[in-house]
Amino acid sequence: MQKIKWDQSLSVGVELIDEQHQTWIDLYNRLTEAVAAQHGVEKVSMALSFLVDYTETHFSSEETRMAESNYPDKDAHTTKHKEFRTTLDGLVQDFQEDGPTEDLAVAIDTLLGNWLVKHIRTVDMQLGSFLSAQ
Ligand SMILES: [Fe+2]
Repeated sequence: MQKIKWDQSLSVGVELIDEQHQTWIDLYNRLTEAVAAQHGVEKVSMALSFLVDYTETHFSSEETRMAESNYPDKDAHTTKHKEFRTTLDGLVQDFQEDGPTEDLAVAIDTLLGNWLVKHIRTVDMQLGSFLSAQ
């Protein structure tokens, strides 16, 4: 499974958002570790719920910033968050039904990991540039 390393190329230029992304990536990496090491249902379940909770905290924080700053692309960005929440919900449901399977490992890599990096590099970067320019 892939781990993600935060570096300057992922910086969106806003300290609070960068810090949250680092925490988010850290929790993602812990989840991949737990699944890859076949740590058992309880540990994977815990890692997954930390990620779910933190995703909510982080998305809410970005959405508040977008609302406060009258960010023009707020709706499109919020839709992306919504899509990810749905993906994450589906993953949690699969995990609850089937446990930490190989399919779950693949889904974490492709649906979560790839999405996360792409989201930071595209929509979050645009938001970061907008907020930095204010
Ligand atoms: Fe975002």
